[in-house]
Amino acid sequence: SHNWVLMVSAQTPTNIAVIKYWGKSDETLILPVNDSISVTLDPGHLCTTTTVAVSPSFEQDRMWLNGKEISLSGGRYQNCLREIRSRASEIEDKKKGIRITKKDWGKLHLHIASYNNFPTAAGLASSAAGFACLVFALAKLMNVKEDESQLSAIARQGSGSACRSLFGGFVKWIMGKEENGSDSLAVQLADEKHWDDLVIIIAVVSSRQKETSSTSGMRESVDTSLLLQHRAKEVVPKRISQMEEAIKNQDFPSFAQLTCADSNQFHAVCLDTSPPIFYMNDTSHRIISIVEKWNRFEETPQVAYTFDAGPNAVLIARNRKTATLLLQRLLYYFPPNPDTDVDSYIIGDKSILK
Ligand code: PMV
Repeated sequence: SHNWVLMVSAQTPTNIAVIKYWGKSDETLILPVNDSISVTLDPGHLCTTTTVAVSPSFEQDRMWLNGKEISLSGGRYQNCLREIRSRASEIEDKKKGIRITKKDWGKLHLHIASYNNFPTAAGLASSAAGFACLVFALAKLMNVKEDESQLSAIARQGSGSACRSLFGGFVKWIMGKEENGSDSLAVQLADEKHWDDLVIIIAVVSSRQKETSSTSGMRESVDTSLLLQHRAKEVVPKRISQMEEAIKNQDFPSFAQLTCADSNQFHAVCLDTSPPIFYMNDTSHRIISIVEKWNRFEETPQVAYTFDAGPNAVLIARNRKTATLLLQRLLYYFPPNPDTDVDSYIIGDKSILK
């Protein structure tokens, strides 16, 4: 019969890199020029929820993002769908009388519905959580018997940073050595229970100008920035091992120093690109100054900052007490206001919006 539908839902949080990925050595396979390390946020905020469905009545693969149909014809979606389909295995639901063989999976069509629980307009990266969630949900539906690291190598082909969202806690994306990308995958460094004093506050800085997409930004940096070459070869490898040590020992001073330095070097690479790319704005710079002054005033660093391909500040406080002080200061300097500097703050386990 043709009147059945099988569905699977999954929820995946986004991740924030503390040692950044910037630059590809292969644009199709999405292979990076250096390793990177990230923290996956708690589930609940900055999450993507994706439901995937299969039915003999579906006539083509279709996808809806936040309720609006989007095209699946792009290479990144096609690569993920192909890789997952090739690993599908047979499923049988005797109660429903459904049996799907490996061969059937190649012919059946999929419907995919994905929602972000945060405003896309806020300029917060959504592709990381999005592709991780898509690949994970499809793997569940199609009974793919691969572990998270193997799935991460598929999510990577949707969006590089997505490979790190297959795990919670602290995650490393190993760039790999193979030309086919088979060993360019994510591994978990420590799970979500490790170092749970840390509190993350995201200051959503309103951006009026259109940003350069990470894909074209990376391409321009790889083509024109000598600093990127130096960073990838000489700087990041050392930082990766220092960051792994800092995370293992819950050494906040080293963690903060490395995180801030790496964010600043990433933005320096952007400035070293021709034509230069400006992701941070005056508000971002003011936030950096406030945190730097505070850290220098104290005996030991209290807050780390990091910025991705946009002006939003991701602030990591060493504990709840510091996070409270940080929020007080932020609200004093940047009261949330859609017309001025900061739109809203997204905090730990709850968000304060406008
Ligand atoms: O995976 P993409 O193409 O969204 O690139 C992400 C790049 C940064 O967010 C700037 C850094 C990172 O490692 O996540």
